[in-house]
Amino acid sequence: MPSIIKTTGVLAGLMAAVSALPAQPKLSERQTDIYQLAKRQNAAATALGLADVDILQFALTLEWLEASFYQQGFAQFPDDQFVALGLNAAQLADLKGIGTSEAAHVGLLQSAIAQAGVQPVQPCTYNFGFTDAAGMVATAGVLESVGISAYLGAAPLVSDGGILSTAASILTVEARHQSFIRSASGVAVSPSPLDTPLGPKAIFSLAAPFITACPAGSNLILTAFPALSMTSPAAADVKSLVAGTNIQVKSDAASNASFCAFTNSGAPGGTAFTPFVAATGCALPPNLAGIVYVTLTSNAPATGVLTDDITLAGPMVMQLS
Ligand SMILES: *[C@@H]1O[C@H](CO)[C@@H](O)[C@H](O)[C@H]1NC(C)=O
Repeated sequence: MPSIIKTTGVLAGLMAAVSALPAQPKLSERQTDIYQLAKRQNAAATALGLADVDILQFALTLEWLEASFYQQGFAQFPDDQFVALGLNAAQLADLKGIGTSEAAHVGLLQSAIAQAGVQPVQPCTYNFGFTDAAGMVATAGVLESVGISAYLGAAPLVSDGGILSTAASILTVEARHQSFIRSASGVAVSPSPLDTPLGPKAIFSLAAPFITACPAGSNLILTAFPALSMTSPAAADVKSLVAGTNIQVKSDAASNASFCAFTNSGAPGGTAFTPFVAATGCALPPNLAGIVYVTLTSNAPATGVLTDDITLAGPMVMQLS
């Protein structure tokens, strides 16, 4: 007879980790927590056997990054720089409100993780590379897109309905942030009918360049894919690109790559692949809009599904519209 007691994913993950602890040496409670965390994150990096609490830690890592981004940006750039971009008082208040809600997401995730008996990850030190308010707003638009893709990509990995609901309530607000930034930047609010999920390793690869260092116990055991960047056309000219035009990219892993992958939808097979040659690049496929994630891959599966095992470099973000 099946048990009528339902064990949630979080509990199952914790129990598995506790039973795997060595008898010696004795660890402090905090060390034990970190040990449990590291063990399960290791498993997560190799297979996608993530416990729900690991997904919460992954989300908290991203929320710390976002909250720190707004906090540092508003500390650095005075209001008049934002007003000079054409933002009115209500829009500036909305932009600052994004920072406030990212900080609230940090608090919510910290308490959900602590309730699962695990030490929440701490903030890292970051290098956002912004030099003015315009650069900050442009990067904010990309960060909010990446946030949406992170929550969408993690959703199918969550087993506990309560955690999924919490994550979904964060996701819809991230989508509103992105809509606001797009609208305030004068581009179409919703250029495409479906947003784009990306797996944790791809998301971490996008976040990693902003992270300088993390305190002990707060590093995710995810490794980033080799970096990918565009050499032609210049970022400013991307919006005028038409399907069929070649783009040229640069990566240490380029010599092994056979395809460019353009991920732009959560529909089954939301990735389009085109042949890649290191000297000439690859052609832009049709029907892309908004933010597109580009990776170099070893294969082009007919399913149109991008997976970690075929990914060689990237993703990089391309804002087409
Ligand atoms: C290309 O693939 C081979 C075989 O997997 C590997 O040894 C080599 O390091 C790769 N080269 C690059 C530039 O990634």
